[in-house]
Amino acid sequence: MNSFIINSPLDMHLHLRDDDMLKLVGPFTSRHFSGALIMPNLLPPLTTKEALLAYKNRIKEACKDDEFEPYVTIFFQVDYSYEFLIDIKDEIIAVKLYPFGVTTNSETGVSSMDVEVLRPTLESMSKLGIPVCIHGETKGFVMDREKEFLPIYESLAINFPDLKIIMEHISSKESIELLKKYDNLYATLTVHHLMLTLDDVTGGMLNPHAFCKPIVKRPEDKKALQELALNAYPKVMFGSDSAPHRKETKECDDGAAGIFSSSIALQALTQLFDENGKLDNLNAFISLNAQKIYGLKPINKSIKLIKKDFVVPSQYSYKEERVVPLFAEQTLSWSINT
Ligand code: DOR
Ligand code: ZN
Repeated sequence: MNSFIINSPLDMHLHLRDDDMLKLVGPFTSRHFSGALIMPNLLPPLTTKEALLAYKNRIKEACKDDEFEPYVTIFFQVDYSYEFLIDIKDEIIAVKLYPFGVTTNSETGVSSMDVEVLRPTLESMSKLGIPVCIHGETKGFVMDREKEFLPIYESLAINFPDLKIIMEHISSKESIELLKKYDNLYATLTVHHLMLTLDDVTGGMLNPHAFCKPIVKRPEDKKALQELALNAYPKVMFGSDSAPHRKETKECDDGAAGIFSSSIALQALTQLFDENGKLDNLNAFISLNAQKIYGLKPINKSIKLIKKDFVVPSQYSYKEERVVPLFAEQTLSWSINT
């Protein structure tokens, strides 16, 4: 096949940041995606209705040239009352839960993942039908953090059987077993966890632009995740976790975790699905599964991909902001037909 149409692509895990960075990265998603689930880990994080609605307006302004729906989220706090959740319910698609200190801007995340500590908020969300998206990592050894978090996912799945729990950016084969075991567990998959291993970060020269949380893992993990995506397993959906940081905060001591992939995601996924003879499943992975999981009716958009080399730019810039995309200066075999 030399061309392929993706209908109403959805990115169900996206960091758009704010100010000039939002203006730089927002259009990469809004141009080609119908909608995206926007993460709330700003500084300070989004925890009030006023801050959330103001942010949503800034996103709409940054993406005003395109028809695009930002599905916004708020940052989980243990003291959210039932009344607050009722009031904000119609504005949000989900609540994002970060354990304290596990990734960028999670310093106000929850300090205890004890079920009883979380129960009042999660029970309210369960009653109101608000899904919880979770960054599932401990502070253990970097390669094992996700695996160590699995018992917490399991106890949440058992204790809140009516709560939709999204295991964000799963990166290890052990997570897949748990995902399959409980009806109320779902997962997002990123381009980078599907296409990279730790070798691509540290196996040769250090590549800070492939550094993220959770860290990309072993070949067998990548293969198991690919199998889920390529077969469009109905409980997984595409969520890029595209998380831009300024070039100079990546290429330095204390380099930030996060991979910017919005501008290359559709091309890279089409290449992956094509190489594996699975293009027929691509629309389910990029759109239909998420529509079912979240009950969405996205804006109609048809994006035509053509089999033509796409040389990924070395960086993108706007005013003072510069970001380096995943696969910078490499060639992908599919392009977006503009
Ligand atoms: O690598 C990451 N970067 N992982 C996350 O979970 C957050 C993200 C960010 O916001 O930079
Ligand atoms: Zn993220």
